[in-house]
Amino acid sequence: MEKIPYDDILSIQRKVNIVDVIAEYLPIEQKGKNYFAICPFHDDHNPSMSISPEKQIYTCFVCGASGNVFNFVMNYERISFSEAVFKVAKKAGINLNVTNVRKTVSKESKYEKFYKMFEITSKYYQNNIKTVYGKPANSYLNKRNISDDVIKEFEIGLSLNDNNVGKLLESKGFTSDEMVDIGLCNKKDKFIYDTFRNRIMFPIHDTLGNVVGFSGRIYNGEDESKYVNSKESVIFKKGKLLYNYKRAMNYARDKKQIIVVEGFMDVIRLWTIGVRNVVATMGTAITKEHADLIRRLSKNVILCFDGDKAGEKATISAIEMLEKIDIKPKIIRLEDDLDPDEYIIKKGEDKFLNHLKNAMSLLQFKLDVGKGKTDFNDYSDISNYINSIIGELEKIDDPVVYELTVKKLSKETGVDTSTINSLIKNVPKKERKIVSKFSTIKKNKYIMAEEYLVHYMLKTPDAIDLYQNNVPYLTDKNLSQIAIKILEFYEQNGYVNVTDFSLFLQDNDELIKEVLRIDQIDLPEKVSNEVIEDYIKTIDDGIIKREITKVRQKINVEQDVAKKVVLLEKLATLKKKECK
Ligand code: UTP
Ligand code: MN
Repeated sequence: MEKIPYDDILSIQRKVNIVDVIAEYLPIEQKGKNYFAICPFHDDHNPSMSISPEKQIYTCFVCGASGNVFNFVMNYERISFSEAVFKVAKKAGINLNVTNVRKTVSKESKYEKFYKMFEITSKYYQNNIKTVYGKPANSYLNKRNISDDVIKEFEIGLSLNDNNVGKLLESKGFTSDEMVDIGLCNKKDKFIYDTFRNRIMFPIHDTLGNVVGFSGRIYNGEDESKYVNSKESVIFKKGKLLYNYKRAMNYARDKKQIIVVEGFMDVIRLWTIGVRNVVATMGTAITKEHADLIRRLSKNVILCFDGDKAGEKATISAIEMLEKIDIKPKIIRLEDDLDPDEYIIKKGEDKFLNHLKNAMSLLQFKLDVGKGKTDFNDYSDISNYINSIIGELEKIDDPVVYELTVKKLSKETGVDTSTINSLIKNVPKKERKIVSKFSTIKKNKYIMAEEYLVHYMLKTPDAIDLYQNNVPYLTDKNLSQIAIKILEFYEQNGYVNVTDFSLFLQDNDELIKEVLRIDQIDLPEKVSNEVIEDYIKTIDDGIIKREITKVRQKINVEQDVAKKVVLLEKLATLKKKECK
């Protein structure tokens, strides 16, 4: 979606109160001038999220989650920033056609018509299945152990061979071009026909809960293609949608886990046994967009595709996609080529739940796949197997897991552990850990001075001026980015405060969190220019120190004498500055 202009975001934010918005999602209680709630972003037991009506900001003291009203809705509902802006605007009763949420709104309201068409059609299909014409479809579903309650919950319907969808939509004022555009009808020799006929209809929703497409399954004869899907349209893109996303959202949040399956019937079957944090890829290969959607639901992912070879292939490619965004899924592989629906029907719910409880680690899965492909009588096959797993071994951080895995691999293949170890490119594990720890501990006085300066830049134009005129750059990457943005904000708006600045940062969640952290550093409210100049002096010292280190490093490796002299002179100048 397009970026929404800052002014529009600001005007929507001004019309709502973050306290009211959060109260719609969570129980809150007032303590003093702030409100408190159980934080929904970590496993909280005491209310550790505070909501400030004054700043219109929420902050969790435990997990650090923080932001403005849009960030809250975005993170809670796991929708995009512009979707959140849209939602909040709706809550505020802002008539979106007259506000200036220009592009996004005009685009959304253009689609509003299509959503309506799908909604009407879906209601019509749902009604069909309850009529006498729906008897065979109903008994097909009941035979598959799908009760009437489940039919209702999943809004399952039935298309008939009556061309009534076209007629119905026409009577509501929609044009045949529109019906054809979104694939509810087809045009043949000037005549308009319903696309779906005699099929059990599964509505497919977008992340906001609008019906944007259908998939129709045959139920009386197996000679045609099993499922027919809505054609791709401006609102229906199969590669960007997951079946059951909206319904699964809250369950995924509660369970802190999302299960991904292939088919509609898998989602529905799992629902009936009380496993509801489930979405389906609808039989297509996982795309980058799918992976992003999955991550919005939970970082704790379980892949449970069909038990056949195709399911294994789909699992492997899903893993590749998920690993790109730092998700290490767990894996379930079902026996006898069964899909989750068939498995539960044939082997029973308990056996499935057992699989769920004992989902394989990614490493285990990769070992299994590799093993399955290896002929252990063929030495080069064994070599390929071991080499294919080296990358995974290198990623193991836990030395115990590492050792046990290498031992097991050694036993399986007959290759000595020392040989396997020698194949590991010595990415020294210990060192890796120290580096990351180092960077968090390393909050020296220079970085602190940078934080303090930015703290006051969020409050007073004087600090911004002093920064602009005296500070070449900040050494901390985030702080440097924030400072530049503050300056930009100030130049555009002529003032600065932390709340409005957070709106300006839009969906840059990480930066907003950092801004709010800096804002909450306990420093005196009022500050003199002298104090800020002191910070700047310290920052300068830090920069010089850093440059001295850099020049020293260069001198050490420089071969060319003339160049070395230049560097030495530079070092002398820096040293002189340092003493000042
Ligand atoms: P499957 O062929 O595994 O179907 O396709 P299924 O889920 O087991 O369906 P039932 O149990 O026979 O009713 C998995 C998913 O792939 C999509 C559907 O979303 C299906 O749920 N698919 C499958 C299609 O879109 N078109 C097809 O022709 C087949
Ligand atoms: Mn099936």
